Amino acid sequence: MCGIVGYIGNGETQQILLEGLKKLEYRGYDSAGIAVFTEQGLEVTKSKGRIANLEEKLEGTPLLGSVGIGHTRWATHGKPSDVNSHPHTDNSHQFSVVHNGIIENYLDLKEELIAKGHVFVSETDTEVVSHLIAEEYDGNLVEAVQRAVKHMRGAYALGVLTSHEPDKLVAVRYASPLVIGIGEGENFIGSDIPAILEYTRNVYILDDGDMAVLTHDGVELFNLEGKSIAKDIVHIDWDLVTAEKAGFDHFMLKEIYEQPKAYRETMLGRVSEDGKSVDLSKELEMNDEYIRSISKVHIVACGTAYHAGLVGKSVIESLARIPVETDVASEYRYRSPIITPDTLVIVVSQSGETADTLAAMREAQRNGARVLAITNVVGSSVAREANDVIATWAGPEIAVASTKAYSSQLIAFYLLGLHLARVLGTKEEAELTHIIEGLTALPEQVESILEQASVLKQVAESMSHHTSLFFIGRGVDYAVAQEGSLKLKEISYIHSEAYAAGELKHGTLALIEDDIPVIALVTQEGLFEKTLSNITEVKARGAHVFAVTNQGFEAEVAKSVDEVFAIPKTLPVLTPALAVVPLQLISYYASLALGHDVDKPRNLAKSVTVE
Ligand code: M6R
Repeated sequence: MCGIVGYIGNGETQQILLEGLKKLEYRGYDSAGIAVFTEQGLEVTKSKGRIANLEEKLEGTPLLGSVGIGHTRWATHGKPSDVNSHPHTDNSHQFSVVHNGIIENYLDLKEELIAKGHVFVSETDTEVVSHLIAEEYDGNLVEAVQRAVKHMRGAYALGVLTSHEPDKLVAVRYASPLVIGIGEGENFIGSDIPAILEYTRNVYILDDGDMAVLTHDGVELFNLEGKSIAKDIVHIDWDLVTAEKAGFDHFMLKEIYEQPKAYRETMLGRVSEDGKSVDLSKELEMNDEYIRSISKVHIVACGTAYHAGLVGKSVIESLARIPVETDVASEYRYRSPIITPDTLVIVVSQSGETADTLAAMREAQRNGARVLAITNVVGSSVAREANDVIATWAGPEIAVASTKAYSSQLIAFYLLGLHLARVLGTKEEAELTHIIEGLTALPEQVESILEQASVLKQVAESMSHHTSLFFIGRGVDYAVAQEGSLKLKEISYIHSEAYAAGELKHGTLALIEDDIPVIALVTQEGLFEKTLSNITEVKARGAHVFAVTNQGFEAEVAKSVDEVFAIPKTLPVLTPALAVVPLQLISYYASLALGHDVDKPRNLAKSVTVE
C-alpha cells in the first residue's frame, strides 16, 4: 500500500526521503518517487519498481534542497509506471503532491479541470489533486489546499509543496493515516511512524480533517476551516530495532518465532497473577450491564484477521453462549446485516487501517451498534473510532503474510470469551480456571513446536513442486485450515483450497488424484473418527496426507495418513493457537524453496487502505 514521507529542514533531504521510503517498503508498493525544491525549482524523480531503481536514477542527478516529499505507490488508478508514480505536479510544475487513499470523484473533477485548460499526463486520481490545488492557488498554499479538499470526495493523506512558498510543507488527512514528526530545526510527515522514527520520537497523529503546516522551525495545526487547533504530542517509545530482522533471514520467520512472546504480551495484565481469572473491565469501556444486554455478535474483518474471527466465533459461542455471525468486511455492508443496538460488532484488524474493515465498522456504528476492535496498532483509525479496544500487543508486524498478529488475535478472542463467560455466568469458575491454565501454557507449547521446524521444512520442500493442494479439517480445524491455505497461496503462489472435511464428497473429491498433497487437521477429539474417515476417502483416491494432530494420538492417526506432526496437548478450544504454527512454517519453507520474496509477495500489500 502507498507510503508517504516528507521533510523540511537543513538535513540531507533526498537521503531522508529515501530512507523514510525504505522504512515503508514493508507496506508493499510498485513504484516510488520524490520531489524536492532545488535551485532549479520543483524537481521530481520517480521510477516504476523498487526504491533501488529510483536511487539509480538519482545517482547522477541528485535533488538537493531543504524541503521535499516522497512516495511509494501501490497502483489503484492506472498501472504501475513511471508516469503514474507520485509525486504528481500541475502543468506549471509549481505544485507537487503525494497522496494515499482514493479520490472517488476524480473523474468529475478532471473533466472540470480539462474544461479550464488543464492537461493531464497520468491515469491517476492524485494528479487531479495537484491541478486542483494549482487552480485554487491565489498566493496562499494553505488556503488553496483547504479550498481544494472541499471539492474532493474520498480518502486522502496529502503532502503538498509549491515553489511559490518553498519554506513550507503542507499536510492534510482525511480517512487515510498521517503523522507529523517534530524535530529541532526540521520537521517531518509520514504515513506511518517507522518512516520518521530514525529522526524523531515526538509526533502529532492527525485526525480526519486536520491539516499541518510545517516550516523549518515549527508545525502549526489547523482544521479545514483554517481555525488553529491544539493537539498533544505523542512520544513514541518503541524501537525501530524491534521492526528489524534480528538475525532471521526474513521478517516472516522472525515473526513466527516471536509468537510465544506475543502470546505472553497479549495476556499480560489481563490474566491475574495467580493465573486463575481474566478481567478486561479495566480496559473495556463496556460494563457488565451492557454485556448482559448483548443479544448477538457480528465479527467482521478481512483475510487472515477474518480467519481469526472464525475461531473467535467458536470461542464466544462455546464460552459465552452468545450467537455469532462472521463476515468478510467487504461483504458486510452490502448484505444489509441486521444490526440492532444490542448487537456487539467486533472488528479485527492487525493494521487498524484496512478500508473495508473501517467502512464496515462505521456502518455498524451508524446503525447504533457498539464496536469492539481487536487490533495490533494502537493509534490506528480502527482503534480510535471503536467504542472498545483490545490491543493485541504483538509488536510491529512487517511481513505481508500475517502470523503473530493472527495468533495474538486468537489470544485476544480467548481473553474476551473468558471475560464474557465470567460476566454472564455461562461457565463454572473451575472450568474457566482450567481454560486459563491451558491458555497460559500456550507460549511454551509454541516454543516446542518451533524446535521442530526442520521437520516441517522437509515437508514443505517435498510439497513445493506440486501445483495444487488441499487443507481439510472439521470445527475449528476447518477455520485453521482456511488460514493455512491462505498463507500458503499468499507467499508460495501454490494453488490450494481449504475444505470442511465432511464437504469433500460433495464435489471436491473429484479433484483428488494420485499424489496430490492433503494437509489434514485432526485436533478436535470429538471429531477424530469423522475426520479420519474423510481422510480415508482422499487416501483411497491416491492423496498423500500430512496430518497435524495432538500428542498422544500420533500412533492412531498414523494408521490413516502418510506423515504426522503432533502439537502439544491442549484443550480443544485452544488448539488453533498451536495448530496454525506448523502451517505457517510449511508456507514459509515452501516459499523459500521456490525462491520467492517471502516478505513481499507479488501483488499484495501489508495494509490495504482502499476498498
Ligand atoms: O491489517 P488487517 O488485519 O486489517 O489486514 C487484513 C488482511 O488484509 C490481512 O490479514 C491479509 O489477509 C494478510 N496479508 C494475510 O497474511
